[in-house]
Amino acid sequence: MTRATRTTPADITAKATASFAACPDPRLRELMEALVRHLHGFASEVSLTEEEWRTMIGVLTDTGHITDERRQEFILWSDATGLSMLVDALAHELPAGATESTVLGPFYVPGAPQREYGESMVQEEGAGVPAWVYGRVLDTSGAPIAGAELDVWQNGADMLYAVQRPEAEEDHLRGRYLTREDGTYAFVAVRPVPYPIPHDGPVGRMLEAVGRHPWRPAHIHVIVRAPGYKTVTTHIFDAASEYLDSDTVFAVKPSLLRTFVERAAEDPERPPSVTGEWVSLENDIVLVPGDADAVVDPGRTA
Ligand code: BEZ
Ligand code: FE
Repeated sequence: MTRATRTTPADITAKATASFAACPDPRLRELMEALVRHLHGFASEVSLTEEEWRTMIGVLTDTGHITDERRQEFILWSDATGLSMLVDALAHELPAGATESTVLGPFYVPGAPQREYGESMVQEEGAGVPAWVYGRVLDTSGAPIAGAELDVWQNGADMLYAVQRPEAEEDHLRGRYLTREDGTYAFVAVRPVPYPIPHDGPVGRMLEAVGRHPWRPAHIHVIVRAPGYKTVTTHIFDAASEYLDSDTVFAVKPSLLRTFVERAAEDPERPPSVTGEWVSLENDIVLVPGDADAVVDPGRTA
């Protein structure tokens, strides 16, 4: 009687990887083979215990349970592990000088109201320090792009986006602005403040367990679209904000930092809708020729 050879961990990995050999879609085959190879590589590298494997399944189960049409904890895992930023970087390799992209985040809601040049998107009292945000949308040769759309959203001094507060004015601190013939745009916002990502679920428990904080530095979100140009989803970061060096979703890029200039109430450049002290912020955006993206619906709003 011949003795059967013993099955090794490497045999199991080889068998599981080979199981996709007949997949008729070559890209799906590549994705599944690499996924299984890396998953097995991870378990082998750390000698994953059965108890750790069960904990992992529990975390994924909790992630599914907390996810609904308003909350997408799976994307939050992607954000908090840097995967969202990596996928974004792989998808948007841009030439020097072009405005860099960064994460969309969970608080984007398509369909913000179209607003006039210079119009305020502040619809509630006490939203924060008024900010005059202005600049140009240009192509990589420095020529202005007329009719580009800036789809803007941000939080207020209470750290929240309007979509996070059921009682909020729906269009508070969001709006879509078009550039004029000379590529210029302007709007009244408020100075954004740092805030924690949703941390009352599995991602928050991971951050706590590993000694990481849940904070993001202050920023304004903007998606810029123009016919004949690649859409860019980006942020304007407050260069004076806390957490620029430890953004919990790894979304800070040095080229996106801008300075808010403090202005006195009696400054003659004060926009008409503003009272008291205010700040101004100049931010040009540079687009690359290409196809514009369709409007994304991220499938989550909180
Ligand atoms: C945000 O900037 O809105 C955001 C991005 C990723 C995770 C949570 C929030
Ligand atoms: Fe944000």
